[in-house]
Amino acid sequence: MSIHPDQSAPELRKLWRRDHIEITRHFLRLDADSRQLRFGMPVNDAFIKSYVDGLSGEGTLLVGGFFDGELRAVGELRGLKQAKTVGAELALSVERDWQGRGLGSAVFARLVTAAQNRGVTSLYVLYLHENRRIQRIVAKHNAKFRAEGSQIEASFRPAWATPLSLAREIGGDIAAYSKRLLRALGAKSTPQRRAPQG
Ligand SMILES: CC(C)(COP(=O)(O)OP(=O)(O)OC[C@H]1O[C@@H](n2cnc3c(N)ncnc32)[C@H](O)[C@@H]1OP(=O)(O)O)[C@@H](O)C(=O)NCCC(=O)NCCS
Repeated sequence: MSIHPDQSAPELRKLWRRDHIEITRHFLRLDADSRQLRFGMPVNDAFIKSYVDGLSGEGTLLVGGFFDGELRAVGELRGLKQAKTVGAELALSVERDWQGRGLGSAVFARLVTAAQNRGVTSLYVLYLHENRRIQRIVAKHNAKFRAEGSQIEASFRPAWATPLSLAREIGGDIAAYSKRLLRALGAKSTPQRRAPQG
């Protein structure tokens, strides 16, 4: 799905430990249904805070989707350390008002490229039966499906890394870094209003 024509293109970039406050705020803004779809069960705010605390492991890669500088989507690749033998898990969330506009598909594609570039041979996504949007996304990857109680596990093999997939990831990182730098320089060069004298 393409980005909604009324929207400017989202900014996608990797997320790091310094982004944990924003990630927590994103998860806390998810409505009850989206939380349940994302985590596979109803979760409260305390669960979310401790979940984000546990996100800093080496085997995890996070991608954020921003509109107007606000984090509206978070995608996670988990288990990258053992991924060559047992595969890695992909999970993501988009805030309710930004759902259905192509943001989830864009974050998903970034994560698949990242997995491809790390030699991951099997990616799996767990979701609840009723989750039509994620079904549409995984269906494009020639996935195999397995029912596990109320959940479905979809698994697929990402393509081999290519110069193009590496360039796509590196290009995305450079673009995101350049934007951050320009914003920081812009903020520094904005003249500060002087306090009234006397
Ligand atoms: C699932 C989720 C990540 C998808 O992201 P999104 O930005 O809403 O989805 P997109 O706009 O990229 O659309 C994905 C597909 O769903 C389709 N879609 C959009 N709205 C739909 C709806 N109401 N019903 C069915 N399909 C719909 C789109 O057309 C698209 O398919 P296409 O590419 O074949 O056209 C997002 O809805 C979400 O965060 N849900 C809650 C958490 C969750 O379910 N996470 C996944 C499990 S880990």
